[in-house]
Amino acid sequence: MKITIDGPAGSGKSTVARELSVRLNLPYLETGTAYRAAGYLLLRGKGENFSLSWEDLKSLLTELEIIPMVGETVVKVGGKRLEGELRDERVGKMASLVGTVKEFREYINELFRSVIGERQAVVEGRDAGTNIFPDAELKLFITATPEERARRRYEQLKKLGKTANYDEILTEIIERDKRDMEREIAPLKPAPDAVIIDTTGRSVEEVLSQILELIKEKV
Ligand code: DC
Repeated sequence: MKITIDGPAGSGKSTVARELSVRLNLPYLETGTAYRAAGYLLLRGKGENFSLSWEDLKSLLTELEIIPMVGETVVKVGGKRLEGELRDERVGKMASLVGTVKEFREYINELFRSVIGERQAVVEGRDAGTNIFPDAELKLFITATPEERARRRYEQLKKLGKTANYDEILTEIIERDKRDMEREIAPLKPAPDAVIIDTTGRSVEEVLSQILELIKEKV
């Protein structure tokens, strides 16, 4: 079956999606990596003088490859894998801006559909269940309070040895949510038939067992 997992940044959806992909032995398509790759390419190519025009974006995407595997989504540009570069906060912000370009979303959604095809998969993002695979058998919307999400992000950055400021992260999260939820095209919102899961104060294991139960009910 196709399982879509949507939700805001820091909700725990990537952790849950990755783990689910491993336990079910299904390819994992983390759609945010494509937005991040585009954001990264835009920053690298144009620096601070970028424009969010489809013309500029399109020329940067020709060498982009998205490869869903069990437990990870490999992203390559010109054959070279992108990894750490994509996790930068600035790249995340650019990704969110790129997400407002309608033609980009259409292009990238087609790419997602073609790399998955008829296969079973775990597809994670903001609009996986609403726009990319509206016929998915199981749709989940994973969320948590902004404070909890900021705390998780803060701890993650600390662990990576990076400097982090909780208040700044919280402000960023609130801004990004607003942009992702209020944009005209493909706003972040649960599909009408999505199961909403709030992960605030819950462990990954607890959330996973709830989802595995939901899957059992479906098959
Ligand atoms: O999941 P993420 O944090 O890596 O995504 C980064 C940004 O990309 C996010 O702020 C919004 C955008 N995005 C999107 O608009 N639609 C998706 N399906 C996935 C990501």
